[in-house]
Amino acid sequence: MKGIIMSGGKGTRLYPTTKSVSKQLLPIYDKPLIYYPLSVLMLAEIRDILVITDPHYLPLYKELLEDGSRIGLNISYAVQETPGGLAQAFTIGEEFIGNDSVCFILGDNVFYGRDLTTILGRAMNKLDGAVIFAYPVKDPTAFGVVEIGDDGKVISIEEKPAAPKSDLAVPGLYFYDSSVVEIAKHIVPSARGELEITAVNEEYLRRGKLRAELLGRGMAWLDTGTPDSMLKASQFIKAVQDMQGFYISCIEEIAWRRGFITKEQMLSIGESLKNTDYGKYLLSLGDTNYGDMA
Ligand code: G1P
Repeated sequence: MKGIIMSGGKGTRLYPTTKSVSKQLLPIYDKPLIYYPLSVLMLAEIRDILVITDPHYLPLYKELLEDGSRIGLNISYAVQETPGGLAQAFTIGEEFIGNDSVCFILGDNVFYGRDLTTILGRAMNKLDGAVIFAYPVKDPTAFGVVEIGDDGKVISIEEKPAAPKSDLAVPGLYFYDSSVVEIAKHIVPSARGELEITAVNEEYLRRGKLRAELLGRGMAWLDTGTPDSMLKASQFIKAVQDMQGFYISCIEEIAWRRGFITKEQMLSIGESLKNTDYGKYLLSLGDTNYGDMA
């Protein structure tokens, strides 16, 4: 399975902070926002990853993540020339996807929870069409909203409805088979002029190939669309890290624990960053072994 991180857009809701810098490169507490979705792909054991960015910021992403080999990944890049919607990712990434299935994640979505790896594995194993997730929120109007029947079947899915049919938001994490490319080519722009990811999901629903997994209690999905939500996400990450001493979305740690790189490689990255808490954390990992705690 391939992975795509969608990191386009101008982040206009965060102006002036994002006037000269891409939102997904801004920090959530102690690391760039894009580390969080990247770590989700790594937890799903996905190592072939395409990062799609606005052309203006491409060099910055390349400087940050390079070709991924440092952490045992194979990262390539593509640009979204104009912000025409999330579903453009599949035509931009057509060659990259090929005949494979793909995990699509938004560059500004943060997920955290003990069960995440199990949930990802379940979604990937049973993939027959598309799998989306459903997360209860107080105000779903700012999101894609999914309605699920008693049997777990998807009844409807709508993008930012004024009168939501449920309180289940659709987080920015999706699994698709390779037909997503053809589907994305045939959807039409929404009223706001974008090729919506929800339109892709609607087509899977029409084909009877859309499944939704509930992300319930104990799972954190943090939206980072506004200054307030970015601050809240930072506070959440800091609180958990301070309490447990484990870092959330430390990509070098995950790479080591998943066997993408050796302990020596991980420690040598730690050594190169040893003047920072992040580097000290990596160096300290050499002495602990709590298994899959990333
Ligand atoms: C996008 C999707 C929406 C989804 C949300 C998750 O909205 O269109 O369906 O619920 O991401 O973050 P955006 O944040 O781009 O407006």
